[in-house]
Amino acid sequence: MNILVTGGAGYIGSHFVKAAIGAGHRPVVLDNLSTGHRWAVLAEDFYDADLADGAKLKDILSKERIEAVVHFAANAYVGESIENPTKYFNNNYVNTLKLLDAMLECGVRTLIFSSTCAVYGIPGSIPITEDEPKKPINPYGLTKHFIEETLKWYESAYGLNCIALRYFNAAGADPGLDTGEMHDPETHLIPLVLEAAAGRREFIEIFGADYDTPDGTCVRDYIHVSDLAVAHLLALDYLMTAGKSGTFNLGGNRGHSVREVIDVARSVTSSDIPVRQGQRRPGDPPVLVSDSTHARQTLGWEPGYEDISVIVGHAWQWMKKAGEMGL
Ligand code: UFG
Repeated sequence: MNILVTGGAGYIGSHFVKAAIGAGHRPVVLDNLSTGHRWAVLAEDFYDADLADGAKLKDILSKERIEAVVHFAANAYVGESIENPTKYFNNNYVNTLKLLDAMLECGVRTLIFSSTCAVYGIPGSIPITEDEPKKPINPYGLTKHFIEETLKWYESAYGLNCIALRYFNAAGADPGLDTGEMHDPETHLIPLVLEAAAGRREFIEIFGADYDTPDGTCVRDYIHVSDLAVAHLLALDYLMTAGKSGTFNLGGNRGHSVREVIDVARSVTSSDIPVRQGQRRPGDPPVLVSDSTHARQTLGWEPGYEDISVIVGHAWQWMKKAGEMGL
């Protein structure tokens, strides 16, 4: 299939592009490189373009004979979204409407949408199933929730079929090291811990050790980015064959605390990682752990890299390679 991949120069998008090529598809990447990287574009076809440019979108959709869209492009910093909500409502929500309308005008009615566990806010029960009430506590999660709701109306009114995938904590890197995580600024736990291991930062700060969790630190469900990529291919197959829209959690069904992740990183890197205990980060739910049974049963998704030390190991190998390449 000819697949338009918005945000295909980003972290999860670039891993999807690699998986799509491996599965025999032709991904066409659209990315404005505001947070993505030119080196991360693994597809032959690349447009340095912005979703806000509706005319350009229509031009690409028809010229490239696009059959499906996988939509990763978005701003995804929770903290930034609280400080600058207009950026998130415009870039994530308004620009997604432009994409949807361009798709309809060009007769493309198949969409895989990147959503997030941030739609749940502070969940009432753990593990989190798809039925958990959606109560986002920041503009980032709210934009993703708005889009999910909008998509239901686009399906009933215009026949646009969509699968929304709610990611838990994407982590790790391509085992072949063709791409990996690189954010500026970096805010995610695993790369920051590894920067401390590499001596590129003095210490890792633990954001709160007084949570009601086994060791007092927050618990998260880390899922390998290459497993996320495969789930998109399965979702696409499902949408094309069963023709049914749906929403799926994508996580590992188990949680690791911040302290556990640091300990794993110590053993993976064989280095002391200095730690400082800090205050809670505003907006952090204490525990986010998925129930991803629906994706496993319905899509046949089976994550291949469930061990947290493998996930951290791939992230570490990628960090070393990126350093050697001067990225
Ligand atoms: N953490 C630290 N120190 C750091 C960085 C992070 O202790 O320097 C902690 C955080 O407080 C959190 C955990 O490590 O408890 C993981 O933090 P990340 O920033 O790596 O990831 P988040 O859990 O905040 O983010 C994830 C997804 C988002 C989603 C969010 C919903 O990446 O897309 O969950 O809460 F929006």
